[in-house]
Amino acid sequence: MKSTKDFWELKNQSKKIVMVTAYDYPSAKQVEQAQADVILVGDSLGNVVLGYDSTIYVTMEDMLHHAKAVRRGAPNTFIVVDMPFMSYHLSVRDTLLNGARLIQETGADAVKVEGADEVLPHIKALVKAGIPVVSHLGLTPQSVAVLGGFKVQGKDAESAKKILEDVKRCQEAGAFAIVLECIPQQLAQEISTSLSIPTIGIGAGVHTDGQVLVYHDILTYGVNRVPKFVKSYANSDELMTKGLRTYVSEVRNKLFPGDQHSYTLKEEELKTLYG
Ligand code: KIV
Ligand code: NA
Repeated sequence: MKSTKDFWELKNQSKKIVMVTAYDYPSAKQVEQAQADVILVGDSLGNVVLGYDSTIYVTMEDMLHHAKAVRRGAPNTFIVVDMPFMSYHLSVRDTLLNGARLIQETGADAVKVEGADEVLPHIKALVKAGIPVVSHLGLTPQSVAVLGGFKVQGKDAESAKKILEDVKRCQEAGAFAIVLECIPQQLAQEISTSLSIPTIGIGAGVHTDGQVLVYHDILTYGVNRVPKFVKSYANSDELMTKGLRTYVSEVRNKLFPGDQHSYTLKEEELKTLYG
């Protein structure tokens, strides 16, 4: 099990931090077996597991439910849980109560929050209360309605400067790592060299201190359209649909179950039974 300090050490040794999302027991088990450094219970579960078209529908109860299953599947991996939409925007008291629930009730190690500005006091309060925080900047899916769609962020000098300032403020507020989503690789490089805390990129090029991808995207598992920054490493849909089709066909053709899948009474017992 790693700690926040280990991630700083990886950065200082120029070793990449590997983060993968997981949402349930089997995916968490696989990611732990693959020896990723961190598991993110992302609110992307709203899209890839629950079938919503946005992460804003994901609730505290959803996050708690899934994070508990992930901890059971990955007892020895550092787990970060996303704080869902509107769970860290009201009072600092609400934020602390929600953050505490996500840690205490699930056994996760840290929480992740999107944005800077008005979120900064919430980051400070969480860290002060003993809850490690990961920041998430660049494309922040919980505010995609305001951003005007899933677009690359920081493409002009002015918005790049704003992101550069924001990441520094998040570091000052006490975040121990920062996820950078969908920003130009030169900006991600500049951020990664100017911050002392590690950056974990998704659609941010190769120069970040680590990378994160969504489990379902890596494995092509039930996803429809994927962004440019995704690389598929396996085709689960093909493999799994083929397996399911074969099962359906074997049942219809009376090929399953075979003798080896069935329980059999001994001859003598049969005789006693039917005379
Ligand atoms: O919810 C999620 O999966 C995320 C990653 C894309 C960073 O926030
Ligand atoms: Na997220």
